[in-house]
Amino acid sequence: MASSPGQYATILSRAVSGVQAPEVQVEVHSTNGLPSLSIVGLPEASVKESRDRVRSALLSSGFSLPPKRITINLAPADIPKQGGRYDLPIALGILKATGQLTPIRSLDSFEFLGELALNGEIRPVPGVLPALIQAEKKSRTVIVPTSNLVEASFADVADVYGAETLLDVCQFLMSSETFLPKPDRLEKTESEYLEDISDIRGQFQAKRLLEVCASGGHSLLMVGPPGSGKSMLASRLVTLLPELDLKQAIDVASIHSVAGKTVSMDQFFQRTLVQPHHTATAAAMVGGGSGSFPKPGAISLAHHSILFLDELPEFNRSVLEALREPLETRKVEIARVNQKVTYPAAVQLVCAMNPTPSGYFPDDPMGRCQDTPEQVLRYRRKISGPLLDRIDCHLEVPPVDFEALSGEKEIGAETSSVIRERVQACQRIQKDRQGCLNTELSPKQLEQFVLLQPASKALLEQAVNRMGMSARGYHRILRVARTLADMQQQENVLVEHVAESISYRSLDKSL
Ligand SMILES: Nc1ncnc2c1ncn2[C@@H]1O[C@H](COP(=O)(O)OP(=O)(O)O)[C@@H](O)[C@H]1O
Ligand SMILES: [Mg+2]
Repeated sequence: MASSPGQYATILSRAVSGVQAPEVQVEVHSTNGLPSLSIVGLPEASVKESRDRVRSALLSSGFSLPPKRITINLAPADIPKQGGRYDLPIALGILKATGQLTPIRSLDSFEFLGELALNGEIRPVPGVLPALIQAEKKSRTVIVPTSNLVEASFADVADVYGAETLLDVCQFLMSSETFLPKPDRLEKTESEYLEDISDIRGQFQAKRLLEVCASGGHSLLMVGPPGSGKSMLASRLVTLLPELDLKQAIDVASIHSVAGKTVSMDQFFQRTLVQPHHTATAAAMVGGGSGSFPKPGAISLAHHSILFLDELPEFNRSVLEALREPLETRKVEIARVNQKVTYPAAVQLVCAMNPTPSGYFPDDPMGRCQDTPEQVLRYRRKISGPLLDRIDCHLEVPPVDFEALSGEKEIGAETSSVIRERVQACQRIQKDRQGCLNTELSPKQLEQFVLLQPASKALLEQAVNRMGMSARGYHRILRVARTLADMQQQENVLVEHVAESISYRSLDKSL
């Protein structure tokens, strides 16, 4: 005897895989047999729990769960599925396959994302932004949780609606009226920072170097006693950077979206300072963590912004080691059994440390440095070598004396917005010439874009010999010299640029 073929429904949704959002088809088959509800297709525990949430949400929304044998398949099976994002498509699939939903809109042209609460409300999910960008390419309309609508506005795509409850979605599909809310239009507002570089008294050398680093994207290590203003300087560097362009801003917001962090409308185009604590684990720093779904780490959350490592020698050595490769390749690759995930990680690295374990320079005028030379050496060795080799500029930050701090605010000190315009002009020169900032120039490009006069060559040779510098250190001097020339709109790198650039490697001898 042939059994009843049962009823099928297919509802479209999207998974999260790094900042990608591969399509997932939620297939529901309902047939006569022992009543059951099963989910197959590589679901993690969090997806299996979907069964209970969906059952309650259906009942509290006034639907029924007929006594059928219901099988839910999440296809393709080789993509790991995680979280509650499939609740809404699963519920809609069950309703369709059991004849409780008779949409007048074509379900194939829709995608759905959302976790269900037991009362049928729709909760926010991570990774909405990357999903919208992919759905747009297929010209599909996407229904997302209303709490994700701000994020949806960043995608700047036409067909997105927010839904509060499962019932909202069903009514929408069964009517021709578009009563669901749409995201606000993305508005570009000028970045406003609470902090400004003009807050900093004195420290002229430090401010100059901040502009150099901002202009060429250079990494920076600051060494100075507690209270000398290292953290203050790092936070002001952010205010010198030009705003993100739309593509960059979407990339950054996508990473935050996948990490389940919300970005507000007025932060969307802004650069930030990401400051992981020195107790951070390697997973927190570069990404990963337990489970099949590797999360982005601090270095990816700082994509196109500043990664600030304060108290550098306090970081676990293995954590710093883990940073080396991503700093070079500007991305993080994490391999798992079922997938390989890539997160972008183009950061500007800024580090700070005290000069010695006691905190003060060995020649502290008040004699506050009590450490033996061996102690100082051991402390500095913690960071020497591989990571130090990846830092473009060094800065010794002397404490500012009381008079400078307590006096009147400097008159006519340049504000961040004035410097930011210069930085922007300087970055334009670099992008027009070589398509990237000077910090990214390869050794080959350096040969092409940094032509040295004999006097510069002699100066460099002397410095390299004196400081016992590596090839990496040498290339860093050239990159920074290129930036110094670009800041003056000089086509050629001159001896003065090389000399200033060498002065920013002051710690090579002592570390
Ligand atoms: N050059 C300066 N101009 C104005 N304030 C300063 C300066 N240097 C330090 N300060 C003040 O001292 C405080 C400590 O500075 P901070 O940046 O935390 O130092 P560090 O990170 O080197 O320990 C800051 O909150 C800031 O108000
Ligand atoms: Mg500090």
